[in-house]
Amino acid sequence: MTSGGAGGRGTVVVTGAHSELGRRAVDRLLAATDDRLVGVTSPWADEPPPAHPRLTYLPVDLERPLPAELRDALGAARRVVHFAWIRDPSAARAAERNLAAIGRLVEPMPSPEWFVLVSSVAASPSARSAYGAAKWRATERVSELGGTSLLVGLVVDEPAAGPYAVLAGLVRRLPVSLRFLGAAPSVFPVRGEAVVAAVTTVVGEDVTPGAYAVFERPPVGLGELLAGLEAAMPARRLRVRLPAAVLLAGASALKRLRLGPRRRLDQVLTLLYKDDRFLLSLPELPGQRGRDRRALAPAGAP
Ligand SMILES: NC(=O)c1ccc[n+]([C@@H]2O[C@H](COP(=O)([O-])OP(=O)(O)OC[C@H]3O[C@@H](n4cnc5c(N)ncnc54)[C@H](OP(=O)(O)O)[C@@H]3O)[C@@H](O)[C@H]2O)c1
Repeated sequence: MTSGGAGGRGTVVVTGAHSELGRRAVDRLLAATDDRLVGVTSPWADEPPPAHPRLTYLPVDLERPLPAELRDALGAARRVVHFAWIRDPSAARAAERNLAAIGRLVEPMPSPEWFVLVSSVAASPSARSAYGAAKWRATERVSELGGTSLLVGLVVDEPAAGPYAVLAGLVRRLPVSLRFLGAAPSVFPVRGEAVVAAVTTVVGEDVTPGAYAVFERPPVGLGELLAGLEAAMPARRLRVRLPAAVLLAGASALKRLRLGPRRRLDQVLTLLYKDDRFLLSLPELPGQRGRDRRALAPAGAP
């Protein structure tokens, strides 16, 4: 991203501006830049997020043709940060719907190079979940367009939100203490603060387009993360030890056979599989390496 007025006053569009991470990124960008922000929310979002003189909210369904007001903002944008994500339990449909939304956003932009996808560590060429496979297709698409993707780890904040809150909820409800025989699947945790800092960097600086790691290294084992959550929510639990491969095969089979809640199973598949080698080969953003790496011990019960 070598042009587009990095750091200067301009227009920045943030989609998913009412999501947990999007909302925090909008707050930080307002504080850290002079930019005019256009926050895209879903038309069905519950409550309007807080107002600010340099912030305009546009409720837009990204699955439909974009209204002129958003197209104008995209035409003037020096960065577009795409937090929005359309969920679908089918990998093919999730990819199709999200790629179409990305196409609609990029089309009015002066340069697709200024598009920033908030991707995930679930995204890899060998992803097992529909979410991971579709995020990977979106990451590839953004790379073809010459834009930037941030492969964000599992956000482990307090209070817990998003997928981490789902995991904490499972630990609270299930009377089972799951551990792994052999190597446990890796978890790449990150604080929401670090995600917001990464977004500020790609908006504020001339960053070379590409895919970047936004998570702490080294990863932790899923067993370790579960142990931390269990310690924060003491209860009598039956200890179960299984090879990760068996669990992965079981969850994949249930999903294929459409037994059980498809969305939950996809979240479990997302947790159980990471392509460590691929993720650890990703570069970090300038200024991210060597920053505060306080231990990311699992936060307490939400
Ligand atoms: N939280 C994490 O640990 C984590 C880790 C890695 C990556 N990420 C990525 O970070 C982004 C934000 O995640 P999050 O956990 O803060 O919240 P999230 O709920 O996953 O954010 C997705 C957002 O997309 C919006 N959206 C969905 N369909 C839309 C449509 N058709 N038109 C307009 N907006 C639409 C949703 O609005 P509604 O909720 O109103 O439907 C929601 O605000 C996502 O792309 C997620 O994949 C999150």
